Amino acid sequence: MSSHIMVFDSGIGGTTVLAHIQTLLPHAQLSYFMDNAYLPYGKLSPETIVARLTSLLQYIETQQLRVDILVIACNTASTLALTKVRELTDIPVVGVVPAIKPATLLTNTKRIGLLATPATVANCYTQQLIAQYGANTVVDLYSSVELVAIAEHLYYSGEFEQAKFTQEMDRLAVKTNTDVLVLGCTHFPILSQPIDSFYDGKIKLLDSGAAIAKRVATLIGGQNYSKLTANNNSYRISQKKPLHYYATASVLTNKLTVEQVKLID
Ligand code: DGL
Repeated sequence: MSSHIMVFDSGIGGTTVLAHIQTLLPHAQLSYFMDNAYLPYGKLSPETIVARLTSLLQYIETQQLRVDILVIACNTASTLALTKVRELTDIPVVGVVPAIKPATLLTNTKRIGLLATPATVANCYTQQLIAQYGANTVVDLYSSVELVAIAEHLYYSGEFEQAKFTQEMDRLAVKTNTDVLVLGCTHFPILSQPIDSFYDGKIKLLDSGAAIAKRVATLIGGQNYSKLTANNNSYRISQKKPLHYYATASVLTNKLTVEQVKLID
């Protein structure tokens, strides 16, 4: 039996992490859960986010989904609630936190930016990360809810809202001399191309997707796993599994086949 990895986010942002996991572990049994009834998480209180994740754990248990690894592919939920979630379950939980540390190692100008949701930017965990790794670097904080909405719209409709995007990027006014921008929200890599063009390729963009996928592979015993899937005798294991999508609100698209479910408040 291959491991069941469930990837969770408020919306489709976590698909940017999912894509890295799929690349590294193409034959894993994956499911994707979005709590889009409560999107955007970036505007929610820590209490509400903990309550939603507690309900998610209950759902996994009551539906007997047999999740082997839960990936909280949401910086907002991870920075606010990871410790609590780990206390509530025996399932190994992998969280995603802003790539501040690698950014401080990459910067030449010693000025980096963190672009995340208001909740991520404001919380103590993020402040601790900056205090821990940002000693010789200026770390400017930028928050946006609008970019989350623009990424959702682009994902589902394929339409990029250029005017809204430019207005939001102008509002953010990233300081000159910034040479690395941490995309501290899993929705933002969906917009990495337009963000890159907005800065004429002069600012390096960093997210945590690849690092999270590596962590997941390590947890499920990555090397053994690849050997198993490469072995012809393990045909059952090496077959690509269908990806199951869950959502807590209706999704207006025929791009994905989604099972709509309810999390108890
Ligand atoms: N994708 C989520 C994150 O990484 C949050 C988006 C939202 O505000 O719901 O923070």
